[in-house]
Amino acid sequence: MLTEQSAATVRATLPAVGAAIGEITERFYARLFDAHPDLLRNLFNRGNQAAGTQRQALAGSIAAFATHLLDHPDQRPDAMLGRIAHKHASLGVAPEQYDIVHEHLFAAIVEVLGEAVTPEVAAAWDEVYWLMANALIAIEKRLYEEGGGPGFRAFRVEERVEETADVVTFRLRPADGGPVAAFRAGQYVSVGVTLPDGARQIRQYSLSGAPGEAVRQISVKRVQGEATPDGEVSNHLHAHVHPGDLLELSEPFGDLTLSDAPDTPLLLASAGIGVTPMVAMLADLAAGGHRAPVTVVHGDRSPADHALRTDHTAYAGKLPDASVHFFYEQGAEPGTRTGLVDLTDIAVQPGTRAYLCGPLPFMRAIRTQLIEKGVAPADIHYEVFGPDLWLAQG
Ligand SMILES: Cc1cc2nc3c(=O)[nH]c(=O)nc-3n(C[C@H](O)[C@H](O)[C@H](O)COP(=O)(O)OP(=O)(O)OC[C@H]3O[C@@H](n4cnc5c(N)ncnc54)[C@H](O)[C@@H]3O)c2cc1C
Ligand code: HEM
Repeated sequence: MLTEQSAATVRATLPAVGAAIGEITERFYARLFDAHPDLLRNLFNRGNQAAGTQRQALAGSIAAFATHLLDHPDQRPDAMLGRIAHKHASLGVAPEQYDIVHEHLFAAIVEVLGEAVTPEVAAAWDEVYWLMANALIAIEKRLYEEGGGPGFRAFRVEERVEETADVVTFRLRPADGGPVAAFRAGQYVSVGVTLPDGARQIRQYSLSGAPGEAVRQISVKRVQGEATPDGEVSNHLHAHVHPGDLLELSEPFGDLTLSDAPDTPLLLASAGIGVTPMVAMLADLAAGGHRAPVTVVHGDRSPADHALRTDHTAYAGKLPDASVHFFYEQGAEPGTRTGLVDLTDIAVQPGTRAYLCGPLPFMRAIRTQLIEKGVAPADIHYEVFGPDLWLAQG
């Protein structure tokens, strides 16, 4: 909780800081990467940096955190902090790195806001920063303790399956022959690869196999740029990684996981490569004997583009009360529908808990329809395959 004096100062300066936060974070990253070029090459996603998306996520989360402290001084925004901490833990972020971020962030604030940053203003925002940083450090410590620590482990590609023209599945076993820890359906791993220019870039991939398997399975869509460059890591994995090759994987992290509620009706809605966590969830529900209704909804360009379609259908088929609705923009087959996903004539049971994964416009549309059908906003959970700009919007 902020001290009373800092709360008053943060309240008075939030509009000015909020208005300048885009510029502050731009200056912050410029300073950070100037002083530590290795962080841009080997930790941060340089595609997101070039596109500016991660900047918006960091800036937005600090403003959202400050607003939350003022509006709800007795509560911690655990959902937001948890999401960031899981991402950080998958990347191996360490407590001492918060001092580095602090140094460059505050230098950037002074650079942009100038004399408006009186000692009182600096102290109040310092308090906001460390409240957030210490909360993240504490959650990350717990995640490292529970999940086997930070860092990466070498896995050997055992199998590579061409799912569709754009999606490839890799099945991986630890190179040291040791066991893999169980994961919770919906979690992801970070994958680190060394690119031709020597940079080590890290991306997250949802685990798309069944949680109890002795192998790790990820399914990667190749990101093809149109006006922008092709995705670096996904294209590298497609072009250069084959059976026998090694890949560096983190332990599994991520907070979009199923809660243990065998009697809760569920709705799993995905689009495109957003299918990956849903397949793991269905595998888990099938293995656990989930009895309540499960509504499976998926949208894709065509049946041929629908990655993991066989598993998606087969795991749903093992559930006693599942209904499956596949929507294709083109080439719909009997039993599937033409067009974008639309819940209008799909029954949604009272008390449904929904899990969404796909592009933001898809998730916005589904969320709106679910709320119209009476699903409580708190029962709608989602995963974003990139910097979380919903989170940035608080
Ligand atoms: C929790 C989570 C789970 C995920 N699960 C999966 C999964 O199961 N399967 C999967 O395929 N993906 C998944 N992703 C997405 C994955 O992590 C990568 O983001 C994706 O593979 C793209 O990475 P890339 O290196 O190929 O693209 P990047 O090189 O990171 O490029 C990303 C985008 O930035 C654009 N860009 C690059 N440079 C510039 C520039 N100079 N100006 C403007 N734009 C630019 C690119 O054109 C591209 O559109 C997941 C992401 C998260 C966060
Ligand atoms: C209080 C301080 C911090 C805040 C508020 C913060 C906030 C965030 C947010 C909101 C995200 C995006 C999460 C998502 O999209 O799901 C993120 C990602 C990330 N953070 Fe932090 N962070 C902080 C400290 C740090 C530190 C100390 C490091 C390490 C140097 C770090 C490295 C990263 C990296 C590498 C990513 C992923 C970037 C990407 O994929 O482009 N962060 N952080």
